[in-house]
Amino acid sequence: MKFQFGWDMGVVSQVPRRPRHTRARRWMVALAVTITVLVGAHAAMGNLGSTIIFNLQPFLDRTGFIATYNVHGNIDTTNPFFQNLGTNERNCATCHQASDAMSISAAHAQARFANTHGADPLFASVDGANCPTVTDRSDADAHSLVRQHGLIRIGLALPTTMQFTINVVHDPYGCAMVPDPVSGQMIVSVYRRPLPTTNLNFLSAIMFDGRETASSLNSAATFQANLTANLTHQAMDATNIHAQANPPFAVTDSRLPQMVSLELGLSTAQIYDFAAGYLGARGALGGPFYLSQTQYHPGINDVLGADPNGVAFNSSAFTIFAPWQNLSPRRDPEDSFDRTAARKAIAAGEVIFNARPIDIRNVRGLNDNPALGSSIPGFCTSCHDTPNVGNHSVALPLDIGTSHSLGQETDPAIAAGLAQLSSPDVPVYLISGCPDPFNTTQPSPNPPASFYTTDPGKALITGKCSDFNRGKGPILRGLAARAPYFHNGAARDLNQIVNFYNQRFQMNLTDQEKTNLVAFLNSL
Ligand code: HEC
Ligand code: HEC
Repeated sequence: MKFQFGWDMGVVSQVPRRPRHTRARRWMVALAVTITVLVGAHAAMGNLGSTIIFNLQPFLDRTGFIATYNVHGNIDTTNPFFQNLGTNERNCATCHQASDAMSISAAHAQARFANTHGADPLFASVDGANCPTVTDRSDADAHSLVRQHGLIRIGLALPTTMQFTINVVHDPYGCAMVPDPVSGQMIVSVYRRPLPTTNLNFLSAIMFDGRETASSLNSAATFQANLTANLTHQAMDATNIHAQANPPFAVTDSRLPQMVSLELGLSTAQIYDFAAGYLGARGALGGPFYLSQTQYHPGINDVLGADPNGVAFNSSAFTIFAPWQNLSPRRDPEDSFDRTAARKAIAAGEVIFNARPIDIRNVRGLNDNPALGSSIPGFCTSCHDTPNVGNHSVALPLDIGTSHSLGQETDPAIAAGLAQLSSPDVPVYLISGCPDPFNTTQPSPNPPASFYTTDPGKALITGKCSDFNRGKGPILRGLAARAPYFHNGAARDLNQIVNFYNQRFQMNLTDQEKTNLVAFLNSL
C-alpha cells in the first residue's frame, strides 16, 4: 500500500493544478485537494489507508491511473462488502478490488499467489482453483486459470429441461462435468472473469449469462427497484457460494442492502494517462466523476429501435474525447511536454470505435434472426451502444465467437479472430441436437448440427438451443486496470482485443488505426 501511494503521488502531481473557470479545472482542483488530504492522512495516521479507500483515490495501472468516485464520499471498508461473512475468509473485495476497477487483474492474482504461496483467500478451492477437489493451496499448476487469466470457476447445474445433449470432449482438470456430491445434479464448470462491481447503474443484465436478472431491467419505470432487488439476490448468492457462508444468508439479511447501496454509489474510470495526461483536460470528459453524471435509461441509443423515447440510434455513442479531435498544439503550463498528439490519438480511436463500418456475421442473437439477415452493417457501437458507457442498453446476449474452441472452429473469420487471443486451457463441450441457425439451405433450412463450446453462456441457464454461447458485453470503462478481457480472460491485453475484432469482422484496420483504438480503450 505504502509503495503504491508513493508512486501515485509522484505521477499524479503532474495533473494540472491551476484553477480556471471551467468545470474540468474546478474538478482538477478537487482532485489535487483529495490527493493533498490523502498524503496528509497517510502521513499522520499510518495505515489508515487499510480501513478507508479515499474518494477518487488513484491507483496505478498499465497506462496511467484508475479511480473510483463514490457519491457517498470515501469508501468505508466497514461495509459488509469488505467483511468476511462466510467460512473461507473471503469477502467481496477478495475478487472486486478498487485498484483493479472493482475486478481483479490476472497480474494482481499472480502476485497474490506468489506473495502468499496460495494462502490468500482468493485461491480457496471452491472456485479459486481449477477444480474444487484441489487440496494443496500452494500448487501453482492447480491454480493456473486464476493465476494466468484471473478466472473463477462457476459451477452451474445443468437445466432440468434441455433441448440438447452435452458431452465433455476435453477435460484438462477433471471437473468439467461432475455430479454434485450432495444433490447429485450434474454440475458444469465454466471459468469466468469477475465482472466489475461498479458503474452498475447502467446494467441491462447481471452476470455474463444474465442469470441474476430475475427482474427485467428493460423498463425505466421499474429499473431502480428491479436493479436493487437483483443485486440483493446476487449479493446473497455471492456470499453463499464464493464465501461459503454457513448457515447460508437469506435474501432478507440486512447486510445485503448495505453491500448493494455501496456498489450502486460507485463509478470507475481511467482518470489519467501517462501520455495524454489528465483525461478531463481541454474539454474532454474522461474520468469517473463525469461518468457518474452520465444520463441513462433502458434502451437508450438502441440500434434496433428499442429507445422508449423513439430516438434513433446514433453510432457516435462515445463523445468523451470529441473535444480532442482538432486540438491545436499547446504545452499546458503544468506539463513538461506537449500532450496534443497523444490526445488526438485517443480522439481518433474514439472515432474508429464510433464510425468504422463492421460487417456483422455469424453472431447468435443477431444474424440468426431472419428479420436481420446474415450480414448486418454495423459499428463497434451497434453492440456497445450505451452512450459513453459501452455495454448494451437492452438485455441482448450475443455470441461473437469468444467461447468457441479454436481447434474445432469451422468459420474462418472466427478462427482467425480466436488465433489472435491467448485463450485459457478450459474444458470443451460437444453440443448435439440443436438446429444450425446459420444454415438456411432450402428446402430444409436449419438442419441439426453438432458444435463445440467452452462456455454455453445463457443456454446453461435456459436449456434452449437459441441461447448457446450467448453472453453480455461488459461495460467498457476502467478497462486499463482489469486485464485480461472477455468472459474467459482470453484477450491478454487490448491489443489482442483489437486484433481479434480486426480478424473476426474482417475490418482491415491499419497499424495506426489499431494503435489509436487501443489508446482510446485504455483511456476509458
Ligand atoms: C471468488 C471471487 C468472487 C467473490 C469473492 C465475489 N465475486 Fe462477484 N463476481 C465474481 C465473478 C467470477 C463474477 C462473474 C460471474 C459470471 O458472470 O458468471 C462476478 C460478478 C459479480 C457481479 C455482477 C456484475 C455484472 O456486471 O453483472 C456483482 C454485482 C458481484 N459480482 C458482486 C459481488 C458481491 C456483492 C460479492 C460479495 C458478497 C462478490 N461479488 C464476491 C467473482 C467473485
Ligand atoms: C456483434 C456485437 C459486437 C460488436 C460489433 C463489438 N463487440 Fe465488443 N463485445 C461484444 C460482446 C458480446 C462482448 C463480450 C464477449 C465475452 O466476454 O466473451 C464484447 C466484449 C468486448 C470487450 C471486452 C470487455 C471486457 O471487460 O472483457 C471489449 C474491450 C470490446 N468488446 C471492444 C469492442 C470493440 C473495440 C469493437 C469494435 C472493433 C467491438 N467491441 C465490437 C459484442 C460486440
